[in-house]
Amino acid sequence: MRGKFITFEGADGSGKTTQIEKIKTYLEAKGHECLLTREPGGSKLGGKIREILLHYDGNVDSLCELLLYMADRAQHVQTVILPALNEGKTVLCDRYTDSSVAYQGYARGLDIERIIKLNEIATDNIEPDLTIVFDVETEVAMQRVGETKDRLEQEGIDFHKKLRYGYLELAKKFPQRIKVVNSNLGIEEVFEQVKKILDEKWLETQIKS
Ligand code: TYD
Repeated sequence: MRGKFITFEGADGSGKTTQIEKIKTYLEAKGHECLLTREPGGSKLGGKIREILLHYDGNVDSLCELLLYMADRAQHVQTVILPALNEGKTVLCDRYTDSSVAYQGYARGLDIERIIKLNEIATDNIEPDLTIVFDVETEVAMQRVGETKDRLEQEGIDFHKKLRYGYLELAKKFPQRIKVVNSNLGIEEVFEQVKKILDEKWLETQIKS
């Protein structure tokens, strides 16, 4: 049986990475074999693309940036995500298609329908079973990120507000797949919300199958 595919989304500084580690431990304790991966950079080739995306110091055209994320995604799906799902593993992916819609679409202003189409092509229509959005007030996120900012985190507060709005819009559009947690709270309080979602979702899929 194909494994479950869960993706995690949110602004930089949303506490996403800390939560994903806890989620992996939680699911493994329940007997799920998990593969933890991320975008950009979840495959070997993707590691090189990630370097360009996050650290290239020249001007990056926004369409070029979008297509680099898509190239990373295509390689990631085919060489990492799909093989693991086919082995029955639960794949936990730190960022996926919704990041492109939120960052390049809502925040950067590229055409959203076009991004959705490109996502379909890049992923060969492999969609997550569940997506958790870690929603955080922009000011809180920016404080958490602190001084060590990469190329994208250097964007202004406006960019981040649009990003947050984008994620919330996506959650409204796809309420079955995307669940939002309040990530302004402490680590354990956020994790309680996550556990509830995972437990409900797990129950739901067991009933279906
Ligand atoms: P990363 O250091 O992995 O950030 P985080 O820990 O917050 O996930 O950097 C990934 C950056 O790439 C992040 O700022 C979001 C951005 N991104 C996009 O703009 N579009 C995308 O499609 C993806 C996958 C990421």
